[in-house]
Amino acid sequence: MNILEMRGISKSFPGVQALTNVDLTIRKGEVHGLVGANGAGKSTLMKILSGVIQADSGEIHFKGQRIRLHSPLDAQRAGISIIHQELSLVPTLSVGENIFLGRLHGKSYSLRWKDVYKQSRELLKRVGSHVDPRTLVRDLSVAQMQLVEVAKALSFNADLIIMDEPSAVLSGADLAHLFNTIKSLTQQGITIIYISHRLDEIFQICNRLTIMRDGRVVDSKDVKDVDRDFIIRGIVGRDLKDEYPPRKPKTVGEEILSVQSLTIRGKVHDVSFHVRRGEILGLAGLVGSGRTEIARCIFGADRYDGGEIRFKGRPAQFTNPRKAITSGVALVPEDRKSQGLITKFPVRLNLTMAALRKISRNGFLRPRVEREAADSLVKTLSIKTPSVEQIALNLSGGNQQKVVVGKCLFSDAEVIVLDEPTRGVDVGAKREIYDVIHELAGQGKSVILISSDWDELIALSDRLVVLHEGRVKGELNGSEATPDRILELALAHERGE
Ligand SMILES: Nc1ncnc2c1ncn2[C@@H]1O[C@H](COP(=O)(O)OP(=O)(O)OP(=O)(O)O)[C@@H](O)[C@H]1O
Ligand SMILES: [Mg+2]
Repeated sequence: MNILEMRGISKSFPGVQALTNVDLTIRKGEVHGLVGANGAGKSTLMKILSGVIQADSGEIHFKGQRIRLHSPLDAQRAGISIIHQELSLVPTLSVGENIFLGRLHGKSYSLRWKDVYKQSRELLKRVGSHVDPRTLVRDLSVAQMQLVEVAKALSFNADLIIMDEPSAVLSGADLAHLFNTIKSLTQQGITIIYISHRLDEIFQICNRLTIMRDGRVVDSKDVKDVDRDFIIRGIVGRDLKDEYPPRKPKTVGEEILSVQSLTIRGKVHDVSFHVRRGEILGLAGLVGSGRTEIARCIFGADRYDGGEIRFKGRPAQFTNPRKAITSGVALVPEDRKSQGLITKFPVRLNLTMAALRKISRNGFLRPRVEREAADSLVKTLSIKTPSVEQIALNLSGGNQQKVVVGKCLFSDAEVIVLDEPTRGVDVGAKREIYDVIHELAGQGKSVILISSDWDELIALSDRLVVLHEGRVKGELNGSEATPDRILELALAHERGE
């Protein structure tokens, strides 16, 4: 039985035809994967289905009836809830307040706090979360926030829950937990639409999938009838010969940056490693292994309690990121929204702001040079935008990520730290970013790569440093690394070896 039929949905934004005549059919109780390149229109379609924005044309039929959605509340009342790509909880409110936000009044307009927390606790239990509903959201991990969002969706008695790239911010055990939650929700008769760029997840949890490209639906299929190459072809529109660039033998230069006995109280303990010119150094580890903390220290964004970072043979005095950038060290942060981008600014400025020197003369900005530089970065990284004047906020999630990478490229840094650079990026564009990373290394620049995608880390790194709970557990040559070897090293100590 079909729970949802979207028919002939079209939507345009100024300069962008985001959706063209899209049909989407969803069966009751299934987990339906929605995949497609960055900017294909997945989030736009789901925002229409959840009443956040309105389509220019088309119809939505839900549970056998035509529905008209003018607001998110309309959708929630109909039984449709969405968990957005960028989480939307209020950090300064408690978990319970967030779940019942806007519904905190009883019939007599007095707050029903006891009920709120009691019901929140029950809802959280249904998604397997043990957080106290009185905890402030800002004190939760991203994984816990994700579950609060699911609990919130349940509080509306949702029949259909849309998850827009939940796995972009989750990994390992947290992801496994979410998958278990999804399974138990479907057993309760709830239908899920699941958006992801990680194709292995589609095979793991989806029954059917729909592939979108350039604002249109390419195909809908049973997952059991397709393979990885079929999906990639649908997403990219052509065969992608290899997901990763081939490993080439190369010679690396002298050491350029070293981290010596770095210690951050409670997080990082006596960590040492170095990177050479032209080398891609991977930092492997599970969540909580201290990788992001180390990256932020190298970039001058955080203080550390002990040890030293040396750059070009001298102690690096990066007391703030600005100094790091002007000295030649750049970072693509893991959290693009709060650290990488100024979303209200045009793409042009976001791309060039880390190296204004390159586009000015005698202290004056040269607009034409700036524009050309921005245009060329947009081309190199295939950033999908009507022009470089578009504000970054209006770009799709993955394209925003490409802007952050582009900004880092333009800064001409000698050491580039990439913290989850392909998060939310589609398979085709991932390959473009990999090629850029290779090219940087080929120019003699050094790359420190952090990624939760171990296949990616292994395919790209010349050398891997394995971290576990803030300590270096070992080192692997890129060509001898496998996920099993990394895990073995990371966990060796715990097994008492
Ligand atoms: N508010 C807006 N104003 C202008 N253009 C927009 C707006 N929202 C989305 N777009 C454009 O519509 C197109 C589809 O974007 P959408 O966010 O739906 O893509 P997506 O498939 O979710 O991509 P991703 O995988 O990167 O999240 C993109 O070209 C995007 O730039
Ligand atoms: Mg999206």
